[in-house]
Order: sequence, then C-alpha cells, then structure tokens
Amino acid sequence: MRIPIHFPTTRPPTRRRPTELLLAALFLGLGIFAAGCSDMIDQSRYDPYAPSSLWADGRSARVFPTGVVPVDQVTAGNPLLSGKGPDGSPVTSIPVPVTVDLMKHGEVEFNIYCSPCHGYAGQGNGIAVQHGMPAPPNFHTQAIYNLPDGTIFDVITNGYGRMFSYGYRIQPADRWAVIAYVRALELSQDANPQQLTPDERQKLEAMP
Ligand code: HEC
Repeated sequence: MRIPIHFPTTRPPTRRRPTELLLAALFLGLGIFAAGCSDMIDQSRYDPYAPSSLWADGRSARVFPTGVVPVDQVTAGNPLLSGKGPDGSPVTSIPVPVTVDLMKHGEVEFNIYCSPCHGYAGQGNGIAVQHGMPAPPNFHTQAIYNLPDGTIFDVITNGYGRMFSYGYRIQPADRWAVIAYVRALELSQDANPQQLTPDERQKLEAMP
C-alpha cells in the first residue's frame, strides 16, 4: 500500500522537519492497523475434504493433473539431482566438472544464500549469527571436511537440524557450484602444500 505523503523535494530527505516525520509515522501506523483488520482466518475457503458443488464429483479436493509425479521420484537414481549414488548413499565427489567458472558461480550463490549464517569464509559467524541466530558449525573442521559432497548436497536440498531447506531457491546445478566453492573455502584456510604436484608447488613458491 502506498501512503500519499509528499515531502517538498527541494530539501534533502535527511533534513525533514520533526512535524512532517510525526505525520508520516501517524499515517504509517494507521496503514498497518488497517492491514491488520483483514483476517485471513475468516476468508472464504474450503476445509480439508469439505464437499463442493463446483465440481461434478462433489469434492473440493482435486486430483493431480495427469503426469504429475512426486519430486523425489524424478530425482531418485540421478546423482546430479539427488546427490546419491545408485545404492542410495551420498556421492563422494562432485558429479560435474569442477572449473574455476563453477567455483566463481558458487561463490556468488554462497555469498547470497549461505554467508548470512555461515559467514563469508565459512567460519559460522555470519551477520544473522551476530544478531542472535544459533551459530552453524565452522566449515574448517575435520567433521565438515569429512562430509561427502553428496551429504552437503542433501543439506542444501532438504535442510539439516535448525537449518532450513534451500531446495526451492537453489537449483541442483547451482548446489554443486556452491559445494565446489565450500571445498575451495576449506582449502583457502587449511591447504596442505604436500598435496600439490612438484610442478604446482614450484609455481606456488614462485608467487610473490
Ligand atoms: C539461516 C541460517 C543458515 C543459512 C542461511 C545456511 N545455513 Fe547451513 N547451517 C545452519 C545451522 C544453524 C546449521 C547447524 C544445524 C544443526 O546442527 O541443527 C547448519 C549446518 C550446515 C552444514 C553442516 C551439516 C552437518 O552435517 O553437520 C552444512 C554443510 C551447511 N549448513 C551448509 C550450508 C550451505 C551450503 C548453505 C547455503 C546454501 C547454508 N548452509 C545456509 C544455518 C544456516
């Protein structure tokens, strides 16, 4: 709802007179009060299994249109969509090519969806936590390193404990990008140079 209050445009908004601010607050209060009066409980709607004269079968509950299948029936057996192998256990590696582009895309998604709680570096100290949200675990621990990639996929898809599901917000392909970035974050804090090939190590040591 828009409240029709027009402030003079010649002055910057930060310098409004207190009387104008008081008026604005009053109008806003009235608006919120009015909105609160429309009670959603009292709207016309069907109770579960209530009869209806709208349809020939007399029922308000409708059958699904032909071709509708439960989502887990679509994802089952496809590691890309379920994060699980044919035997139902979580996959242990990311089932798409891990490229710099994938990680960069994962960084964008992570910063949008995960950093508010997990923090930009995955230390579990995001802005929501600083405002009282229960702290998630630090990603830089052996327990999280040990989680199979498919398990993280499942955590994003279905949520975990107090963390809610991101299945409807992050598409499966983007979930793998986020996981690639989480793995990169882990390495960014705790990489072991011994894991590099001699060639790669030489390049690293030559870096300024
Ligand atoms: C609203 C806050 C919040 C957001 C946003 C969030 N998480 Fe979490 N996450 C949590 C909390 C809290 C836990 C711990 C849950 C528990 O132990 O009950 C957790 C746990 C986890 C775990 C550990 C699971 C385990 O098995 O120990 C992983 C991995 C994880 N989150 C990944 C992510 C990723 C990836 C994203 C972004 C797509 C994300 N989280 C977004 C709050 C959040």
